Amino acid sequence: MANLNVEFMGLSLKNPIVVGACTLSATAEGAKELERAGAAAIVYKSLFEEQIQMEQAQLTDELDEYADRNAEMTSIFPTIKHAGPRAHLMRLSEVKKAVNIPVIASLNCVYDVTWFDYAKKLEEVGVDALELNFYQMPASVDKTAEQMEDEKVEIVKTLKERLSIPFCIKLSPYYTNTLNFVNRLDQAGASAFVLFNRLFQPTIDINTESHVTKFNLSHQGDFNLGLRYVGLLHKKIKASLCGSNGIYTYEDVLQMLLSGADIVQMVSTLYKNKPSYIAQVLSELEKWMDDKGYKNIDEFKGKLSDNALKASDVYYRAQYLDFILHPEEIINKYPMR
Ligand SMILES: Cc1cc2nc3c(=O)[nH]c(=O)nc-3n(C[C@H](O)[C@H](O)[C@H](O)COP(=O)(O)O)c2cc1C
Repeated sequence: MANLNVEFMGLSLKNPIVVGACTLSATAEGAKELERAGAAAIVYKSLFEEQIQMEQAQLTDELDEYADRNAEMTSIFPTIKHAGPRAHLMRLSEVKKAVNIPVIASLNCVYDVTWFDYAKKLEEVGVDALELNFYQMPASVDKTAEQMEDEKVEIVKTLKERLSIPFCIKLSPYYTNTLNFVNRLDQAGASAFVLFNRLFQPTIDINTESHVTKFNLSHQGDFNLGLRYVGLLHKKIKASLCGSNGIYTYEDVLQMLLSGADIVQMVSTLYKNKPSYIAQVLSELEKWMDDKGYKNIDEFKGKLSDNALKASDVYYRAQYLDFILHPEEIINKYPMR
């Protein structure tokens, strides 16, 4: 029978399916259910800068250092009912104690000081690794891409010095040269990359003429951009790679592994199909490997990466060249009306 064990940023995992940050693992019971279904590890939901600042606002109103930030945060997030960081750390600790699989804590901050303080606080809870959620909207037209990237590289360098557990970066795809940025973060000490983060985008209700926030799950196949970058990065950086966003089935998992991912994260499919669906994906994965005669994942991981394909341009082409050079083939295959 196929062996599904994998290594991810120094953690030994029993299979490549990790539950991404979400509310399914927010309680000890939820986490145990995911563990029973076969999840190899879980990422606990993120602790956000806003939660930290709002608790600071309540606790340290008198501190000038926080006064401006608090005023801004409270007006931007007036109705958020997040638990503060103290409650977050306590619940994370309960989840960590409830399961035997690795637990990864997630952090999304704005200010250097909060990145450093809270990465350390999360580590002290006893988690196995951290996930740094590097989503940041460019808020000023004057700030250059290089300045924004430099700030993140410095954060990674400092965290590498201060933390003793591994940490991965969950990245958005919106960088001018994502490969270069990943390479810089890799050299700065990141242990792994999660490609990519799924970001909420604004939506307007034309009847009420106001903005609405919708609870949107991903769609199957949203992972193709991540697949491209996993394929391009496999064996070209030291860090491990995790595919994410729109991975629903065992076929999707296999696409990511063939491209060069060490593991995948799943979230939306588990909301739609329930946590027990992990067991089905694992048995289908195992059957595919048995049918193909693969004894372990290393035997086919990265088989279709840029590094393995050598002269292929499959990861570099993003235009309809085939259609231009061979229109008759495409028209025969997909007749147009
Ligand atoms: C209900 C819900 C809560 C989420 N919470 C977080 C979070 O706290 N931190 C985070 O980085 N991502 C969070 N995400 C994003 C997921 O971790 C994941 O990146 C995204 O859903 C794409 O993966 P998927 O296609 O498998 O759903 C959340 C997603 C959902 C649906």
